[in-house]
Amino acid sequence: MNKTIAIRYYSKTGHTKKLAKVLSDYFNIEALTINEPLTTPTDLLFLGGACYGATLSKEMMAFIKTLNPQVINNIIIFTSACKLNPYQLFVEELQKNNLNVAKEYFYCKGSFLIMNINHPNQDDLVELKKFASKISNTLLKD
Ligand SMILES: Cc1cc2nc3c(=O)[nH]c(=O)nc-3n(C[C@H](O)[C@H](O)[C@H](O)COP(=O)(O)O)c2cc1C
Repeated sequence: MNKTIAIRYYSKTGHTKKLAKVLSDYFNIEALTINEPLTTPTDLLFLGGACYGATLSKEMMAFIKTLNPQVINNIIIFTSACKLNPYQLFVEELQKNNLNVAKEYFYCKGSFLIMNINHPNQDDLVELKKFASKISNTLLKD
């Protein structure tokens, strides 16, 4: 696998951070927060975040604006939420900025107040590992 990959995430309550760690361990690259700019050529960016009040965080929106479509070839979303699947929110925001977003994405439940208690749980993390393996054998194949 000679493709360049990167991980960036934003996590208010720790769930996306947990998911980012699985990807970081699987691909053996550091998972950085969106406080770290991404300006180097990247074949595949794993971008993680959730939705808050039915929208992406303002921090995520601002980060997306910093991404250069000439430098970032493709983006895979990993996300969680208590009810709404945020994938489409990401697609809209990324496409507005002319960025490619893969149709493959990872979504699992995320706890909020009394909803989805303990999610992302161990099973969710196992599913994410399987997803990473699938991406490795498809989009990341030379
Ligand atoms: C302030 C706040 C607002 C939220 N609003 C929504 C929402 O509108 N829809 C939804 O499905 N989940 C909502 N959630 C749940 C989060 O999307 C979910 O807990 C997610 O896993 C959080 O990821 P994080 O821990 O990485 O921040 C909200 C959570 C918080 C803390």
